[in-house]
Amino acid sequence: MQRAQHIGKVVLTQPSRMGCRADGTYLLSGGLGALGLVTAEMMAEEGAKSMVLLSRRGVVNHDLSEAWKRLESFDIEILINACDVAQSGEVERLVTSVTQSYPSYTLRGFMHLAAVLDDATLPKLTQKHLESAYGAKVWGSRHLHMSLKSRVALDFMVLFSSTSALLGSPGQGNYSAANAALDAYARYWKAMCEHVVSVQWGPWRELGMAAQTGAVQRLKAQGLGSISNTAPWPLQAI
Ligand SMILES: NC(=O)c1ccc[n+]([C@@H]2O[C@H](COP(=O)([O-])OP(=O)(O)OC[C@H]3O[C@@H](n4cnc5c(N)ncnc54)[C@H](OP(=O)(O)O)[C@@H]3O)[C@@H](O)[C@H]2O)c1
Repeated sequence: MQRAQHIGKVVLTQPSRMGCRADGTYLLSGGLGALGLVTAEMMAEEGAKSMVLLSRRGVVNHDLSEAWKRLESFDIEILINACDVAQSGEVERLVTSVTQSYPSYTLRGFMHLAAVLDDATLPKLTQKHLESAYGAKVWGSRHLHMSLKSRVALDFMVLFSSTSALLGSPGQGNYSAANAALDAYARYWKAMCEHVVSVQWGPWRELGMAAQTGAVQRLKAQGLGSISNTAPWPLQAI
């Protein structure tokens, strides 16, 4: 595990809207990706003091170094870790290690953002394409849920789904299905009185997978707005 530098301080002038606790630690799968770093920064602003950011490679992409620098400037504990959430053993090992190494913090919640795009049009869609989309999103959410729920009562679980689950997306049948499965898990866990929400995000304009794949422009032509990470919270689609 690597530990980040901390130099700044956050003083909350009003209660955290997310209910982030100063004695809690929060796990973000896909936390080193574009929206992961935006989310981590927002959680730091909301009073989170400790976060574990995961991705398979355990490194921040070069093009996200500005976002990483902003995150490092908060007075918070950040661990970054290589963990493939599609593999239950890796998730179990990670959760055990975080719980044992940082006893002063209690795991209180997770944000599940891990995702891969492996696009193919329907006639070319294979089991392999479905497995890569399901691995990060669907099996990832199950593994995190299983490992964490067996140890702690979570304040929240937030699953990053997409409007593709609702509207479909050309060449992304596997991704759309994985997002729909994520939404279904959220409904199932909610029915068991768990604090979970699945957010069907529209496209983010400046960063992340929609911006990189041209989906923002394609959806704009269909009349669907996009979200800006530079807009003040709460986010508004334009
Ligand atoms: N950006 C958008 O406009 C948009 C819109 C709707 C929904 N969303 C959803 O928001 C989430 C984040 O999107 P993003 O744009 O931030 O994507 P991104 O920049 O590509 O980030 C995805 C992250 O997931 C990690 N990852 C992939 N597979 C993993 C696995 N098996 N285990 C652990 N980490 C894994 C990747 O790192 P490694 O490759 O190192 O593992 C990467 O850090 C996704 O779930 C996406 O579906 C995004």
